[in-house]
Amino acid sequence: MDKPNSFVSISDMTKEDILNLLADADYFESNPNSRILQGKVAATLFFEPSTRTRLSFETAVNRLGGRVIGFSDASTTSSSKGESLKDTIMMVSNYADIIIMRHYLEGAAQYASEISPVPIVNAGDGANQHPSQTMLDLYSIYKTQGTLDGLTITLVGDLKYGRTVHSMLQAMKHFNSKFVFVACKELAMPVEYKEFCDANGIEYVETTEFSPDVINNSDIIYMTRVQRERFSDLEEYERVKDLYALHNSMLDNSKPNLKILHPLPRVNEIAYDVDNNTKAYYFQQAKNGLYARQAIICNVLGVEIPRKNS
Ligand code: CP
Repeated sequence: MDKPNSFVSISDMTKEDILNLLADADYFESNPNSRILQGKVAATLFFEPSTRTRLSFETAVNRLGGRVIGFSDASTTSSSKGESLKDTIMMVSNYADIIIMRHYLEGAAQYASEISPVPIVNAGDGANQHPSQTMLDLYSIYKTQGTLDGLTITLVGDLKYGRTVHSMLQAMKHFNSKFVFVACKELAMPVEYKEFCDANGIEYVETTEFSPDVINNSDIIYMTRVQRERFSDLEEYERVKDLYALHNSMLDNSKPNLKILHPLPRVNEIAYDVDNNTKAYYFQQAKNGLYARQAIICNVLGVEIPRKNS
């Protein structure tokens, strides 16, 4: 049997793959409702909490005429009785055409893709990757800036455990933008990702200061939540959790094209007074997740998008 076409890691994707998915997402933004997934069943297996990712994947399937099964709380499933991930995947693949899975273990999606008879979509694996988030992030950057090249993208907050920033760096090896990493030393970008940048010609600077200079030179500011659930030492979490917060007044001299992104959920890192600023884009960014995920699902299932036939 051929290995199904899973979507596990952004690093598996070529520049052409990424640009094709962005074009497909653009198609779905104008055409979110159709029946092209009629007869398909998608399973959403969420071993970790989620609001946006699960609901936007499920909405993506529903709006394209497919059906959804799954769980959002693994404690209600037989994994709480000791069933292995392998057995869960083998069972669910009896019922569904595609499995969309979030898991707390890094590498769980890769493992699932190696044993599953149906495609696996990685909806986040521990602190490792969140590739569908990256597609919606790239789509949001492209839509608001008209390009993925020549930008200054500032990543702020938890760069150690934040899987969205790790995935984004891997995708951006195909483009020519530069990064500013703003984090305290406890939450700094891990060495392996800085080595990845060096090896792939991605320009970056690191700073602990979320200064006016940093803000005013950015085209994109990507705020992140400090990932409480990944800390083994909760006292350390308490020390670092509120170090970086964006307030509206900090944007007074920012570039006109600046957009504020955040994968959400936010805790304290973006003040509510930013929400009405026209540079705040995080709610639209989450909405873009629907279109990006429609594109991903159709791609892994090999479902033709009508535009491609016309
Ligand atoms: N951005 C994101 O992954 O949000 P959820 O955890 O709510 O799915």
